[in-house]
Amino acid sequence: MRKGILTIAAVGLLTTGGLTACGDDSGDKAASAKTPKIGVILPDSKSSARWETADRRFLEEAFKAAGVQYDIQNAQNDKTAFQTIADQMITGGVTALMIVNLDSGTGKAVLDKAKSQGVATIDYDRLTLGGSAQYYVSFDNETVGKLQGEGLTKCLTEKGAKNPVVAYLNGSPTDNNATLFKAGYDSVLKPKFDAKEYVKGPEDAVPAWDNAQAATIFEQQLTKANGKIDGVLAANDGLGNAAISILKKNKLNGKVPVTGQDASTEGLQNILAGDQCMTVYKAVREEAKAASDLAIALAKGEKKGTGQTVKDGDRDVPSVLLTPKAIYKDSVKDVIADGYVTKEEVCTAAYTKFCAEAGIS
Ligand code: BGC
Repeated sequence: MRKGILTIAAVGLLTTGGLTACGDDSGDKAASAKTPKIGVILPDSKSSARWETADRRFLEEAFKAAGVQYDIQNAQNDKTAFQTIADQMITGGVTALMIVNLDSGTGKAVLDKAKSQGVATIDYDRLTLGGSAQYYVSFDNETVGKLQGEGLTKCLTEKGAKNPVVAYLNGSPTDNNATLFKAGYDSVLKPKFDAKEYVKGPEDAVPAWDNAQAATIFEQQLTKANGKIDGVLAANDGLGNAAISILKKNKLNGKVPVTGQDASTEGLQNILAGDQCMTVYKAVREEAKAASDLAIALAKGEKKGTGQTVKDGDRDVPSVLLTPKAIYKDSVKDVIADGYVTKEEVCTAAYTKFCAEAGIS
């Protein structure tokens, strides 16, 4: 899995800029300017397809466009490996380290170590609670959850559901994003439970967003609810697909709306087939570009303003929070038009018909 540092002729670094110093640039560049070399640690390749298919691709695209050296590795959900990779990157001379933590404790250890060695740090996508990253780059994750809650409501209404029982498949309990997603969908659904318009069904968090475990958990939820689950708030497409696989076994797919997130190929196909209500598209290209710009600025000793902060305890973390978008059957084409997935990937054999129906030509 290890990918070597890409070596780029030094002259390229001077000519391929594209990065403009920002208004409140206040760093003492001369003292700390270094040739940027960026290390990225992705969390795994199973909790969501995005890390390998989108994040790696768009981070590479951003680093190559800026002409900087980089090393992107994947910890494969192994906290010890995560720390080893970080140590190797620091020893290897990275100027900035971008991490997607596996939990806040191990993330903090890595960030603190990097900081003590003068390496700039960025929390990429997931905020490390109690951490020390200089920037946090992500999406507005509470809004992600809100879009999921609203999406489920829309699909339940369309199905004419009366007092629907709604089950929750939350994300990993160690991922701060999962907490934010839940805060978002609770803000929409809890008032409906309180008003007895909807009935709160079983709720479980899925450790490490493990898709296989999610299927087992959902099967137990369905049994516990005597087969009476009318809607599933699944926190991402992988968990949604796990629920759909169990619904299929019980001939309930298509009848019970399921949510998702990440606009994965599988999620989009489930939407087109009518088995999934919606997904949330996060334009990872923009996330990767924002993080890459900040990492390069930090290496140059510049302090870029982000215009926004996020609270982590008492600390205000300078943040870039991008806007997520809800995707339904009729907007799957927008994700394709944005270059996130291709028509060829989505519209394979069994889905050609659905693609045509959804106006994907
Ligand atoms: C990310 C999601 C992803 C999940 C599982 C979250 O932190 O924001 O996009 O689906 O982790 O990898």
